[in-house]
Amino acid sequence: MGSEIKAGGPMRVLVTGGSGLVGKAIEHVVQQEAGKLEGEEWIFLSSKDGDLVDVGQTRAVFEKHRPTHVIHLAAKVGGLFLHMKENLHFLRDNIKINDNVLQTAHEMGVTKVVSCLSSCIFPDKTTYPIDETMIHNGPPHDSNFGYSHAKRMIDVQNRAYFQQYGHRYTAVIPTNVFGPYDNFNIENGHVLSALINKTYKAKKDGTPVIVCGSGAPRRQFIYSLDLGRLIIWALREYKEIDPIILSVGEEDEVSIKEAVEMIANALDFKGEIHFDTTLSDGQMRKTASNAKLRRYLPNFTYTPLKEAIKMTCDWFVANYDIART
Ligand SMILES: NC(=O)c1ccc[n+]([C@@H]2O[C@H](COP(=O)([O-])OP(=O)(O)OC[C@H]3O[C@@H](n4cnc5c(N)ncnc54)[C@H](OP(=O)(O)O)[C@@H]3O)[C@@H](O)[C@H]2O)c1
Repeated sequence: MGSEIKAGGPMRVLVTGGSGLVGKAIEHVVQQEAGKLEGEEWIFLSSKDGDLVDVGQTRAVFEKHRPTHVIHLAAKVGGLFLHMKENLHFLRDNIKINDNVLQTAHEMGVTKVVSCLSSCIFPDKTTYPIDETMIHNGPPHDSNFGYSHAKRMIDVQNRAYFQQYGHRYTAVIPTNVFGPYDNFNIENGHVLSALINKTYKAKKDGTPVIVCGSGAPRRQFIYSLDLGRLIIWALREYKEIDPIILSVGEEDEVSIKEAVEMIANALDFKGEIHFDTTLSDGQMRKTASNAKLRRYLPNFTYTPLKEAIKMTCDWFVANYDIART
């Protein structure tokens, strides 16, 4: 693994956003699954180590750790309502965070940066399955256009750093991530984690679970630990500048109804599940293709969804006091 590492000595990897859902998963893989090679150093940052919106603080944190490699996860993220209200803040803060991280990495001679995009930045009007070549093919959904355009610019900037300086800065595009350390807030959290919290509360209160919409929309969910393993692979092995979708296959898409049933099973919830069809379903599907990833890693095994949901529910119950609810 990693010819780059042998050539340049052991990596010193700085992970921005290291305290979030994806960052904690990478930390777990590095520390608990022997993801760290001999001599390597991995540094996981939170916003307390420096506000990356600020260029001075970004430089200070890079000066302190002198990374050779960067996994860039930090982003200003929020729920749908906040995005709709504050597109300007999401646009400006994320443009600043991304430019500060990439330009400081360039100035300090960082060999490789892997940044995190999101499948929600794809064009709103598109054909399915979506693939990596379609990012810039049309405007993103109106609700989060600020966040989406800022994220799309990472891809543009990566190509420009390669053209002008030959840097191998690239990006990965995960679909819906879930796992320990997610945001489980019922209003602002990601769909699966919000449903875990809802079901947990319903069980405690002896009430039914009310799911927004019909339960028919289908999504590709990726367990954060699988994503962590894939991001580490991308850091070590993926040489392209063009981004790569990190997702389960199209055949592994499940309906929200199926996901709720798995959650109910995992939490041993025996009450009723109602689907409130007066509420919007959102997009019925946003299927992304993982064909490019499959060409690189035909044998990668994903944790079965049922198992991953069970592990996430167990973590949530055991860590309710520290979980973001
Ligand atoms: N979750 C998903 O479903 C999903 C899907 C596709 C892509 N992604 C992308 O994956 C990346 C990680 O997402 P996540 O779900 O792990 O997010 P998360 O759990 O909300 O974590 C966000 C991380 O960014 C840090 N951060 C935020 N603002 C910062 C600032 N101004 N300066 C320094 N650090 C800052 C946070 O630090 P604190 O803990 O100190 O606040 C935290 O470590 C993001 O780029 C996101 O766009 C996520």
